[in-house]
Amino acid sequence: MKKYNMREMVFCFVFLASLFLNNAGVTGQADNTGFVNIDCGLPANSSYKDASSTLTYISDAQFIDTGTNHNISVEYVTPTLSPHYLNVRSFDTGVRNCYTIKSLVSGLKYLVRATFLYGNYDGLNKGVIFDLHIGVNYWKTVNISDPGKTTIAEVMFVAPVDYIQVCLVNTGSGTPFISSLDLRPMKSSLYPSANSSQSLALVRRLNAGPTDSTILRYPDDPHDRMWEPWSNVPYWTEITTTSHIQNLPNDLFEVPSAVLQTAVIPVNSSEIQFFWEVDPVDKDPSYMANLHISELMQLTANQKREFNITLNDAMWYNSSFSPDYLYSDAIYGLRPFHGSQRYNVSLTATANSTLPPILNAVELFIVLPVSAIPSDSGDVSAINAIKSSYQIKKNWNGDPCAPKTYAWEGLNCSYAVSGSPRITVLNLASSGLVGGITNAFANLKALQTLDLSYNNLSGLIPDVLSQLPSLSVLDLTGNNLNGSIPPGLLKKSQDGSLTLRVGNNVNLCSDGTSCNQSKKKSNNSTIAIAIIVPIVVVVILAAVGILIIYKYKKRPGSMSTTVNPNNTEFSTGTSTVDSSLKLENRQFTYNELKQITHNFQREIGRGGFGIVYSGLVDGTQVAVKVHRNTSTKEAKEFMVEAQHLTKIHHKHLVSLIGYCKDENCFALVLEYMSEGSLEDHLRGRAAGTWPLTWRDRIRIALESAQGLEYLHKGCNPPLIHRDVKPNNILLNARLEAKIADFGMSKAFNSNNDTHISTNHVVGTHGYVDPEYHMTYQLTEKSDVYSFGVVLLQIVTGQPAIIQGTGPESGVMTLIQWVRQRLARGNIESVVDARMQWQQEEITTVTFILVTVAPVPVRITTWIQVTLARTALVRWNSTLVQFHWSVAQ
Ligand SMILES: *[C@@H]1O[C@H](CO)[C@@H](O)[C@H](O)[C@H]1NC(C)=O
Ligand SMILES: *[C@@H]1O[C@H](CO)[C@@H](O)[C@H](O)[C@H]1NC(C)=O
Ligand SMILES: *[C@@H]1O[C@H](CO)[C@@H](O)[C@H](O)[C@H]1NC(C)=O
Ligand SMILES: *[C@@H]1O[C@H](CO)[C@@H](O)[C@H](O)[C@H]1NC(C)=O
Ligand SMILES: *[C@@H]1O[C@H](CO)[C@@H](O)[C@H](O)[C@H]1NC(C)=O
Ligand SMILES: *[C@@H]1O[C@H](CO)[C@@H](O)[C@H](O)[C@H]1NC(C)=O
Ligand SMILES: *[C@@H]1O[C@H](CO)[C@@H](O)[C@H](O)[C@H]1NC(C)=O
Ligand SMILES: *[C@@H]1O[C@H](CO)[C@@H](O)[C@H](O)[C@H]1NC(C)=O
Ligand SMILES: *[C@@H]1O[C@H](CO)[C@@H](O)[C@H](O)[C@H]1NC(C)=O
Repeated sequence: MKKYNMREMVFCFVFLASLFLNNAGVTGQADNTGFVNIDCGLPANSSYKDASSTLTYISDAQFIDTGTNHNISVEYVTPTLSPHYLNVRSFDTGVRNCYTIKSLVSGLKYLVRATFLYGNYDGLNKGVIFDLHIGVNYWKTVNISDPGKTTIAEVMFVAPVDYIQVCLVNTGSGTPFISSLDLRPMKSSLYPSANSSQSLALVRRLNAGPTDSTILRYPDDPHDRMWEPWSNVPYWTEITTTSHIQNLPNDLFEVPSAVLQTAVIPVNSSEIQFFWEVDPVDKDPSYMANLHISELMQLTANQKREFNITLNDAMWYNSSFSPDYLYSDAIYGLRPFHGSQRYNVSLTATANSTLPPILNAVELFIVLPVSAIPSDSGDVSAINAIKSSYQIKKNWNGDPCAPKTYAWEGLNCSYAVSGSPRITVLNLASSGLVGGITNAFANLKALQTLDLSYNNLSGLIPDVLSQLPSLSVLDLTGNNLNGSIPPGLLKKSQDGSLTLRVGNNVNLCSDGTSCNQSKKKSNNSTIAIAIIVPIVVVVILAAVGILIIYKYKKRPGSMSTTVNPNNTEFSTGTSTVDSSLKLENRQFTYNELKQITHNFQREIGRGGFGIVYSGLVDGTQVAVKVHRNTSTKEAKEFMVEAQHLTKIHHKHLVSLIGYCKDENCFALVLEYMSEGSLEDHLRGRAAGTWPLTWRDRIRIALESAQGLEYLHKGCNPPLIHRDVKPNNILLNARLEAKIADFGMSKAFNSNNDTHISTNHVVGTHGYVDPEYHMTYQLTEKSDVYSFGVVLLQIVTGQPAIIQGTGPESGVMTLIQWVRQRLARGNIESVVDARMQWQQEEITTVTFILVTVAPVPVRITTWIQVTLARTALVRWNSTLVQFHWSVAQ
């Protein structure tokens, strides 16, 4: 506790004062005092001058766009009632409704005051309890039980941003309403306990010994605090002076002379006592109090006024106190006090004192921690621009991200330990948005996902969206957009950093130059053109050395397959559940397995893990993979994985139909893939089949890529396959590719004879990416590297590890083999000799070779292969047309 001595400290306020004046000058909504006086519920555009305060009150319409206006019931209208109490704005929809007052200066101190008079405005004559928030922090619980009683809430705070929101929060005990809202700029030096980490919510501000019963405020108090009259007749008597009471240059409270000119002293006693009790709506409040004390009597030489001040019988101020004549003085605390239900304060004259104690005014506050930080102000203005641009009909009120409990619907935020929350996901799918895509989206600088699908958006796609550094998903599906995909977004989409969805936009032309070529039935094909052209151009430039040397010769005797350029048979679905397999995932017993496999009669495969049998479940053929030699640890992992995998369904992943796990058996029941593995086909091991055509191969590559992408992007948590290779790409009767053994490599480290698992490296030699080898850091990029090797195998028909002959003798990886041959400019010697292919297809063949082969290191490979994958996913026969147009 501290008394400050006014005469010794001289301090200059020039800087703060000028700041204060500047602020007053720029506050457009404020009058020349810097005050903002809002009469809530007053019709829009109306205003009036309040006779007693001389301040002009304006309608609240420009500060809020929710709520409805009401007049209070006539029986509560009295001649002395301040006019701002005559009407209210109430909020019967939305949990949180907020006023926004702009033009504050971040870092400066403000006083905000809200007043409430219920006056039975709704005719329900019911009490109501609701919360007030100041910005993103709790301020006060308002408990209205007497319809004719006015309630005043006030808070002193340091503005964290250049606007402040006052929010009324419905806590389930009636409809929040408000009568008026005032904003007062304060000098930063005043009320030092209000700082950026704590605010002061007013409990009472009492003017002891007033001459009348009105609230003292502006213009008597230049800061327009409201001082309530306070007396305690007959125990206290009032003394007054007409002399002016001085504030000091460094006064921390600047209590106006009009307040200090009146005071109380006890009657027949040497003690002034008062107390307060904790309001049950305040949960364990921490209090701060100011006692304002000035001597109003000129004391003679033998007079002495000296008293001790105690709080709950402890010395509040550590020595006895004698106020100075006609100077403001105060007892105030720097540390808040709490923990009691009742606080007794007494001012007791000391033995030497000839006069009783004196008290001029009291202020009591609750300290509010500033615990939440408002959202990034750039994000806030952007999202508000979006809100008003589309007239969004959501309960979007107050701060978008904070406090977390009231974050806006349809967006996700990131909350850093320190620093402002940022909007990272904005989902406005199916929100009835009409009009163009506003550039305001590009001001949400931390945005990662923007979903605008299935609205009625029209016009061009703004390229500024490509400047969002973290944007990784942009979904514009199902709108009415036209024009072309702008180059910035196209580039990001191609390098794999952005997932761009633009399907179902009938007027969107895709490549920006030749819209008339893309009179497509399918939107997917439209995209494919846009995506593929630049890639092909780049690839062709890169491959120019090879292409010059390479001379295409139609292979004699090859089967001539006609390619229909309009054929769009390639599926681009990403998460379709295969409808042919409607079996439930289930757990089988050993006896059931025996039945399913006809007593393990027909063996269809074998490996280090065990044996695969053919079987029948409900008339559908299945593959039963029986594992052996399993430890307890493996058994546990098996259960976790199996249960996890039963939930994953994708058209291009082999479905897990069920599993068996008991002491006798340890097996997976899988979708049956009649045509075996891609490896069998590439290596010519599949009996009685023709070598795969290039079109089959590229489709299989595409389908595997989709399955892999689903594991990486569609599963939660993402699954890393860890063993992508042609052996694990299985084909069904229609030669549709499905990835097998996904997610199981963890449970089963010895799936295959060629498996290596030394030093924790899991995978198959020739497919494991070199970085994983070096670091043991497994990411989905490792799968992508392996997939790149698969792509090379698809082109070359070669194994991943090659035993070279002649000048290429020695063991080498397929990548080395391809690079050596490409370096000699010999494409023909690289491409699988058994493959039937068309001249047109040279583009894709070259493309894959050139993008995948030369780059053995993962990081670059990731980019390259993502490129390839993007192209494959988007690939369809229109590519052929493009080859022609580009080549001409
Ligand atoms: C209030 O004034 C603004 C601007 O002059 C005007 O656009 C608006 O329609 C007015 N509102 C009402 C309710 O009069
Ligand atoms: C409130 O009363 C005033 C007249 O006193 C009237 O003009 C106004 O329309 C009323 N407002 C409402 C919301 O009923
Ligand atoms: C705010 O004031 C309190 C009490 O005086 C103090 O503990 C705290 O450090 C202050 N915070 C700042 C940011 O100055
Ligand atoms: C103060 O003392 C006078 C005289 O003794 C007495 O009449 C009066 O009631 C006392 N007042 C109070 C409040 O005790
Ligand atoms: C609200 O105020 C009334 C009257 O003062 C009181 O009876 C009631 O307990 C209060 N409600 C809460 C939740 O504190
Ligand atoms: C405050 O004073 C009252 C009345 O004298 C007494 O009953 C109570 O115990 C005191 N409270 C504290 C916390 O000292
Ligand atoms: C009162 O406290 C202040 C600092 O808190 C100290 O400087 C002063 O000596 C103390 N006075 C007495 C009488 O203890
Ligand atoms: C007032 O405080 C002083 C110094 O702390 C102490 O010596 C004295 O006894 C106190 N007087 C009373 C009446 O409590
Ligand atoms: C009271 O006054 C006498 C004489 O002025 C002084 O000696 C004594 O210390 C004072 N007592 C207190 C408690 O201040």
